[in-house]
Parts: sequence; C-alpha cells; structure tokens
Amino acid sequence: MGDSKKNTVINFYIVLLFSIWLAVGDSVDFNFPAVFNLGDSNSDTGELAAGLGFQLAPPNGQNYFKTPSGRACDGRLILDFLMDALDLPFLNAYLDSLGLPNFRKGCNFAAAGSTILPATASSISPFSFGIQVSQFLRFKARALELLAKGRKFDKYVPSEDIFEKGLYMFDIGQNDLAGAFYSKTLDQILASIPTILLEFETGIKRLYDDGARYFWIHNTGPLGCLPQNVAKFGTDPSKLDEFGCVSSHNQAAKTFNLQLHALCSKLQGQYPDSNVTYVDIFTIKSNLIANYSRYGFEQPIMACCGSGGPPLNYDSRVSCGQTKILNGTTISAKACNDSSEYINWDGIHYTETANQYVASQILTGKYSDPPFSDKMPFLLKLKF
Ligand SMILES: *[C@@H]1O[C@H](CO)[C@@H](O)[C@H](O)[C@H]1NC(C)=O
Ligand SMILES: *[C@@H]1O[C@H](CO)[C@@H](O)[C@H](O)[C@H]1NC(C)=O
Ligand SMILES: *[C@@H]1O[C@H](CO)[C@@H](O)[C@H](O)[C@H]1NC(C)=O
Ligand SMILES: *[C@@H]1O[C@H](CO)[C@@H](O)[C@H](O)[C@H]1NC(C)=O
Repeated sequence: MGDSKKNTVINFYIVLLFSIWLAVGDSVDFNFPAVFNLGDSNSDTGELAAGLGFQLAPPNGQNYFKTPSGRACDGRLILDFLMDALDLPFLNAYLDSLGLPNFRKGCNFAAAGSTILPATASSISPFSFGIQVSQFLRFKARALELLAKGRKFDKYVPSEDIFEKGLYMFDIGQNDLAGAFYSKTLDQILASIPTILLEFETGIKRLYDDGARYFWIHNTGPLGCLPQNVAKFGTDPSKLDEFGCVSSHNQAAKTFNLQLHALCSKLQGQYPDSNVTYVDIFTIKSNLIANYSRYGFEQPIMACCGSGGPPLNYDSRVSCGQTKILNGTTISAKACNDSSEYINWDGIHYTETANQYVASQILTGKYSDPPFSDKMPFLLKLKF
C-alpha cells in the first residue's frame, strides 16, 4: 500500500471513530468542561502542602513528576488518570497560588488527612469536608465576581455554565474511619457512620443548592489492608483476614459504603435534575489485593517506601522520604527498587501503578451505579 493510500485508510478510521464517539456521546455525556474535586490524600494534588506550608519529601513523585508534586505517591493519583480520560488537565490545588495556576477546567479542594466530620485540635488537616465546600462556594463567588469585571479573566476561571456542567467528584471518609479506631471500638464506629454521612449529605446539599448537578462519589477502600493499620491493629493474627488485612477496619469500610450507596440513591431520588454516580472503589481495590499476581504485582500489602523491611516495611515514626535519629539509631524510609511491583507506596497510599489499574477499572463503568458503557471513556483515552 502506498503511503498516501495508507493515510487515507487511517483517516477513514479516525473519522469513523469520531462518528462513533459522537453517536455514543448522545447517550452518556462524558464531555465535562471542568472537574471540582473534594477529598483527602487519595486525591490531594498539593492542597495540604500549600495550605500548611510544607514540602513532601522525595522519593514522592519520582516516577512521573520527577518532583514531589504535593501528592502522596510515586506518581499520578487515580484522579490524575481520570482527568486524562476526560481529556482535562491535572487539577491545581485550590490553595497553591504559585506556578500560574489555571482553574478554568476545575479546581481541587482535596487535602490529605481531611475528614468528613469537622476537624478537631488533633486533626492533621483543618480542611474537613464542610470547609472544602465553603472554599468551593467562595471560589465560585469570587470567579463570578472576577468575570463580571472583564473578559481578561475568561482564560483563568470557570464561567457560570462551566460550574453547572462541571463534574463534582468526591473521595472522602477514609480518615473518619481509620482515625476513629485509635479511640473507639468497632461497634462505636459503626454506630457513628450515620452521623458522618449526615455531614456528607449536608455538604452535597450545599453544592446542589449552589448549582452543582453532576456528582461522582467514590466509596472508601479496604483500609484494613493498609500497612499503617496492619502494623497498629493487626499484630494479633486473629485480627487478620485471609489476605492479611485487619478485618474490623474492612468491616467498617463495608458498612460505611453500604450507607453511602443508600445515600447516593436517596440523593438521586431527591434531585431528579441531577446525576449521582456512586463508584465502588472498595471492590476494585479488594480484588486487586486478593488477586495481585494476576495484575502483575509482587507485593499486595507491604509498602514500597518505608522502614523496617518485610512483612510491612512500615514504621509510623518515619514517613516516606524521612530520616530520623531515634535513641541514637538512624531510621529512614526509602523507596524500594521497583515500585511497579508494589500496590502500596508509603504504608497509607497506593503506588502510581496501582492507581492506574484502579482508574482503568473505574473507566470500565462496571463498578458504578448507575453503570456506564465502557465505550465512551475508552474512546476518550485515545489521543489523536
Ligand atoms: C443525567 O440523568 C438523566 C436522567 O436520568 C439522563 O437522561 C441523562 O442522560 C444523564 N446525563 C448524564 C450526563 O449522564
Ligand atoms: C479474585 O479473583 C477471583 C476470580 O476472578 C474472584 O472470584 C474473586 O472475587 C477475586 N477476589 C476478590 C477479593 O475480589
Ligand atoms: C527510646 O528508648 C526507650 C527505652 O528503651 C523507649 O522507651 C522509647 O520508646 C524509645 N524511643 C523511641 C522514639 O523509639
Ligand atoms: C535493590 O537493588 C540493589 C542493586 O541491584 C540490591 O543490592 C538491593 O538488594 C535491592 N534492594 C531491594 C530492597 O530489593
């Protein structure tokens, strides 16, 4: 085949793909102009570091950004991969004021350590869910105020219709549960879940009342499988399940998720002019941990970046990248040689390779309610 003929054929297929893309686009519209994300470290792209004024240490960020980038990961987060699939740029953290942040296609309010319930004096992050919602409301009011001043702001901040058509994503709740285990029994934690979710519902309602219509809500993962929790609560083997995860923590996550799912259905019923999508991260991550070798991993639980070696390579006294001298002994948390063999990065967060796998499973549409066809996200991922 001559080169020009080959090109014609390739062009034909590109046109065909675009036609399918447009046709499918009628039924499920993934053409969101912007994403507004609220959450914790699972989707923090630099918010807590900017807000509290610290730098995460390398080797965080070593794989993709070549600099810590404010993410507790060796590279990209699930959120980054989803932004890619939506053909949108990575989200700037709301509080990160340098580096010419552009918020036209969205803004990220998620901060590491954040809880749904209001922060207390001992919280890592003061930016709990209600505060993140308030930050968003202020962000929107300020954006509209700037736009009213003149067109020169069009390039940097979203317009009113972008706020209406944008996707509001949520990934929060893990810290409410994980933190509670330090002072409460499982029964007390299970009993507190409705209160936690009531606070979540209040935040969602505030956003809805302000015009948000597309909600995308991640449930919480199997936190009993995180080295941090296994190290603290799993020293007695009878507390662990067949995969080496702390049973009580996973039970709390499951109960939380059941009630979160019910809340999503309730919200969808209450707001027929909105779209509420519930995404089952727990099932994706549990399957990954249980069947890790099938997905190309060698370590399902042990942290890549940590201290102490097998079986967890986790020491709560040093975080990834830190070195400390304790009682005259130097301990340091360094990265493993090949993070792509590990699911867990630093004892609490997933590696980039694991995040990529989780994002690919989200994009199949099979783990959401309502489910969506995998056709759209797949085609969106093709970059011509
Ligand atoms: C939102 O929900 C409505 C009603 O259920 C549906 O017709 C529409 O296709 C949905 N839109 C998107 C973007 O999913
Ligand atoms: C592991 O894979 C098997 C076979 O596909 C599946 O039946 C099982 O549910 C998976 N385990 C988990 C915890 O998802
Ligand atoms: C230092 O050693 C003392 C005595 O062995 C011990 O009680 C303490 O927990 C140690 N401190 C740290 C930070 O490991
Ligand atoms: C990393 O690789 C070096 C050199 O190949 C080797 O000496 C070391 O044992 C490896 N470390 C781990 C934790 O596998």
